[in-house]
Amino acid sequence: MNSYIGIFDSGMGGLSVLNRVVERHGDLPCIYLADTARIPFGNKSPSEIRSIAKELVDWLKYKEGSIVLVACNTTNSLAFDIVESLSGVEVIDLIRSVESMIINESRIGVLATPATAASKAYSCQIKSVKPQAFVLEQGCPDLVPLIEAGKLNTEEIKLAVKEYLKPLLKAGVESIVLGCSHYPLLVPLLRQLLPINVRLIDPAIGLAERLDNFLGPPKVSQGSPISIANTRICVTSSPSAFAKRVQNVMGNCPEVELVSLKSNSYFF
Ligand code: DGL
Repeated sequence: MNSYIGIFDSGMGGLSVLNRVVERHGDLPCIYLADTARIPFGNKSPSEIRSIAKELVDWLKYKEGSIVLVACNTTNSLAFDIVESLSGVEVIDLIRSVESMIINESRIGVLATPATAASKAYSCQIKSVKPQAFVLEQGCPDLVPLIEAGKLNTEEIKLAVKEYLKPLLKAGVESIVLGCSHYPLLVPLLRQLLPINVRLIDPAIGLAERLDNFLGPPKVSQGSPISIANTRICVTSSPSAFAKRVQNVMGNCPEVELVSLKSNSYFF
């Protein structure tokens, strides 16, 4: 197999994207690269984020026929041009995938990392299909560090999420875009804290649907167990800690490899 799907993120957030992809298309040959040594991306400057994106894409060295999935909104919002031009293959991102998911709402909230929120990339994308929409983007600096530290079910994260939701609820949003790939892991907590009529939008669902254009219609029947046996998982620090996180989120975990972005490698 010469081609593969390359997915990258700073940490475990991209697993929520991988999950949506295998749920729809089955166990595909994928490389998942998490730059755990430099997490969080979302609290860094635009120029740091752009130089990280360049290194990630360089390391993945895409082969013809491969597809890149940008499973990190922060890179997506600040370095999409770099990913597209350096990879030289088809790139499917989260931010453009939101278009197909905005239905009737005209007041839309976005929860995102500080860098993504400041870029206003979601506002621009949503307004390109709904020019009259009111869009409020909320940066959430504490969430990725808390999620990566395994503090999903703690009072600390609940208080932080409550604070971040306040401006969105005050503004009367009808839906909230999960504008960081880590945040689908917070859905149970968000559902607890939000009124029932506020819809949560996960752009990874739209991304997995856009993959149909390249992989054909969904091959997996709903509710089938998920396997990621064909995914190579590579991290830039702490592989055993990351393996535990993958096991918790995906229910299974292939071996996690420690890699250096300084040494370029081909896979498959
Ligand atoms: N999960 C990524 C995103 O969607 C990166 C989060 C981070 O490292 O701050 O933005």
